[in-house]
Amino acid sequence: MDRKKVTIADLQEKKKTGEKITMMTAYDYTTGILVDQAEIDTILVGDSLGMVMLGYDSTVPVTMDDMIHHCKAVCRGAKYSFIIGDMPFMSYQVSIEKAVENAGRFIKKAGCDSVKLEGGSEMAHVVKAIVDAGVPVCAHIGLTPQTATKLSGFKVQGKDAESAKELLKSARDLEEAGAFCIVMECIPDLLAAKITRELNIPTIGIGAGKDCDGQVLVYHDLVGLFERFTPKFVKQYINLAPMIREALIQFREDVETGAFPGPEHSFAMKEEEAKKL
Ligand code: KIV
Repeated sequence: MDRKKVTIADLQEKKKTGEKITMMTAYDYTTGILVDQAEIDTILVGDSLGMVMLGYDSTVPVTMDDMIHHCKAVCRGAKYSFIIGDMPFMSYQVSIEKAVENAGRFIKKAGCDSVKLEGGSEMAHVVKAIVDAGVPVCAHIGLTPQTATKLSGFKVQGKDAESAKELLKSARDLEEAGAFCIVMECIPDLLAAKITRELNIPTIGIGAGKDCDGQVLVYHDLVGLFERFTPKFVKQYINLAPMIREALIQFREDVETGAFPGPEHSFAMKEEEAKKL
């Protein structure tokens, strides 16, 4: 069967039928191709690239130019997955005009299908303005890494009834504002299940239990490429870092001992031509 590009209507249909939605981060061309080939529904070019690709301690320093650069690469690789570009810290908070302009850059310059931004009810007017301008928005509530300092660290959110009610209200407000889906990070599974039941748009969980409409993980966590820390909610499917390190050590040893390159990696020249040198 011919593969078709995933659309918002496809994601909405999955919510309706109960078929789970998949989302994976990618930050470069090669990974974009792999995630696309795995038939993952949506690719998030997350600002988590600040930590796993650029070596920052948080996502806060990531710029619009960083995001556009990586989004362009992913968009060149992925042809079928629905691509979401993550708006970096302070690219959508300063003014509505700036937020709409920056959202537009993800679509026009990078080739993304939509954008994601962090925040609850207080960001609903920004979501509405971007959606009204014609750019689909994925919302992100719960643990919002760009404002982790304000939340007093990387902690599970909505653990008591009062803060859980606030998150539920945020989810409703963001849906009302026109978000096409909502990422919920690090919230109790019972709260995530309630929000998922109450909303008409798909919910995508990361550390939010199994009852969300879909799940997202950071690619580097899933394949074991990021060794600085691993959050509790991560399932690591392969541990690539030690394998890559071992291959690099073997390369170094082969070069040092002369085992590489062998004749099979070298280009021959006719002896009579060599004699003329
Ligand atoms: O930046 C990112 O990768 C994210 C996911 C963790 C949802 O926001």
